[in-house]
Amino acid sequence: MPASLTDVRAYYDKNTPLFLRFGSSPETQTIHRSLWPQGIHRLEDALAVSNNLILDEARTLGLSHPQIADLGCGVGATLFHVLAGLGAGRGVGVTLSAVQARLAESTRQSLSFSNAAFLQGDFQHVPLQGPFDLIYSIEAFIHAQAPAKYLSEVARLLKPKGRLILLDDFYLPTQSDYAQRWLKAYKDGWYVPNMQTVDEVRASALTVGLTLRETKLLTPSLRLRALPDLLAKFILWAGNKLPQDHPIVPSMLGSMALQQCLKAGWIEYRWLVFEKN
Ligand SMILES: C[S@@+](CC[C@H](N)C(=O)[O-])C[C@H]1O[C@@H](n2cnc3c(N)ncnc32)[C@H](O)[C@@H]1O
Repeated sequence: MPASLTDVRAYYDKNTPLFLRFGSSPETQTIHRSLWPQGIHRLEDALAVSNNLILDEARTLGLSHPQIADLGCGVGATLFHVLAGLGAGRGVGVTLSAVQARLAESTRQSLSFSNAAFLQGDFQHVPLQGPFDLIYSIEAFIHAQAPAKYLSEVARLLKPKGRLILLDDFYLPTQSDYAQRWLKAYKDGWYVPNMQTVDEVRASALTVGLTLRETKLLTPSLRLRALPDLLAKFILWAGNKLPQDHPIVPSMLGSMALQQCLKAGWIEYRWLVFEKN
């Protein structure tokens, strides 16, 4: 069964403290992958690379007070980074997880960000009117049960010429049963209900007036730790025998499967920028 909204919410409500403690750094508080382009040597800097890519894109809008939305905002780390970097504008973060929305709000208060707000909600039915100049999602679109609904919400919320950035995993079609087994382990472990190809997203976005303007492959900037195949298969087999009552177990198996898929080229980690017509 593909992951439901309730599954994804429970996954983040239960795992967020662990993700922040073991998958992030106290400095960045992000819940996304580190990127290691040339010149990056510290984990803190590698976790901030995608935040800086979003900040650079926001700057290219050339607006004095951009309105920004982070759909799938985690605990707000990227939004704080972008608003601080711009020194102006307003931002709202939407997360499915009540735990994350509370943590983001508490950081907002302690850092005195009067120009940010956070709410718990589903980005396929966003409880906001907009309009926004920039909307982005880092490693969140992958959790959409209905990617087309996410895109139509973004189209509703963006101003004309406004931009959408997706930084996420995209599927590369393969017929191999072997690849399908690893892809399934990734989707089950990471609560991914409906992984799309870039072409599917591009076509679906066009129907709601969003045109793909830029795409960049970021897989080469990841530090992949794919295991020898036999060892990975054994860990997956053994892991599936463990009690699965806490979603950190499937999450760790999903991480391992993702590394195998990225290394084999069945999944790409990509940056996409769309513009509303
Ligand atoms: C891997 S985390 C990324 C968090 C954040 N973007 C970051 O980079 O730190 C995925 C995020 O997607 C959010 N998410 C997943 N499905 C969602 C939905 N239907 N509506 C809103 N947020 C969702 C989760 O709550 C979580 O915040």
